[in-house]
Amino acid sequence: MLSFFLFFFLMVFFEDIGVNLTDSMYQGIYHGSKKHEADLDDVLQRAFDQGMKKMMITGGSLKESKEAIELSRKDERLFSTVGCHPTRCQEFEESGDPELYLNELLSLIMQNKDKVVAVGECGLDYDRLQFCPKEIQLKYFEKQFDIAEKTQLPMFLHLRNAADDFLEILRRNKHRVKGGVVHSFTGTSQEATALMNEGFYIGINGCSLKTEENIDAMCSIPSSHLMIETDAPWCDIRPTHAGAKFIKTTFQSKKKEKWEKGFCVKSRNEPANIVQVLEVMAAARKEDATTFSETIFNNTMNVFFSKL
Ligand SMILES: *[C@@H]1O[C@H](CO)[C@@H](O)[C@H](O)[C@H]1NC(C)=O
Ligand SMILES: [Zn+2]
Repeated sequence: MLSFFLFFFLMVFFEDIGVNLTDSMYQGIYHGSKKHEADLDDVLQRAFDQGMKKMMITGGSLKESKEAIELSRKDERLFSTVGCHPTRCQEFEESGDPELYLNELLSLIMQNKDKVVAVGECGLDYDRLQFCPKEIQLKYFEKQFDIAEKTQLPMFLHLRNAADDFLEILRRNKHRVKGGVVHSFTGTSQEATALMNEGFYIGINGCSLKTEENIDAMCSIPSSHLMIETDAPWCDIRPTHAGAKFIKTTFQSKKKEKWEKGFCVKSRNEPANIVQVLEVMAAARKEDATTFSETIFNNTMNVFFSKL
């Protein structure tokens, strides 16, 4: 058991393409109420101890993108995306000047070129139209291709239950941009193929491994087009998920009310858990975890870090 662990520890390196490290849960705050002391530094250290080489902190709005960049300046292994999530796209209109909001996203990138590695998170989410209606999502998803074109940065994309409209927008705009990844993929193998045909990679996290159908779709994607992520603090792999049976590495955790230094928080995902995503993917695909992780690592390097 020990030798297995050391083998993993020594041989496997990760880059987490989606971590929401600006989330208040890492400050100990859940739904606005303080449950424990801030433990972001411990969370980062656990990830680095697990072989994490780089993390991309998700920027989901103008404000959050600023926070993500600021946080990324804490450590040379941290980077950031800049964009507006489909569920937050009302912010463009509510700001009173959508063009200015877009330009502020652009200048944020221009001023922080050493840290910003992708335009996003942007895309379409038809499962959560209560936060932002379809027309607004469509309009500002397409607008963010202007930023990707001007900066020539790859894109970090979000897609939920909107594949047809999403693909139509990709096809109309792909000639302007440098590709990227569709993260937290939960679609069918046909949808994955269509996205790859437009030049995009597919990001897999715990949400992508919930059901046997999810796992079959993931297995259909060639490793040359895969990336790996946690989407922490979201998308942890739960015992009820189809992928859970393949997990080998577990971390001791305590409930948030009983927080203790050195322990994870129950059902709050964190980037160290990326090892579990790899274990599920490699076992389901019957691939050697070390080689497989190296392929994924290289994919991520080539798309997001080749210019740094
Ligand atoms: C990953 O990239 C490194 C460096 O370019 C290379 O030596 C290695 O063979 C690649 N590994 C895989 C599995 O593609
Ligand atoms: Zn997302």
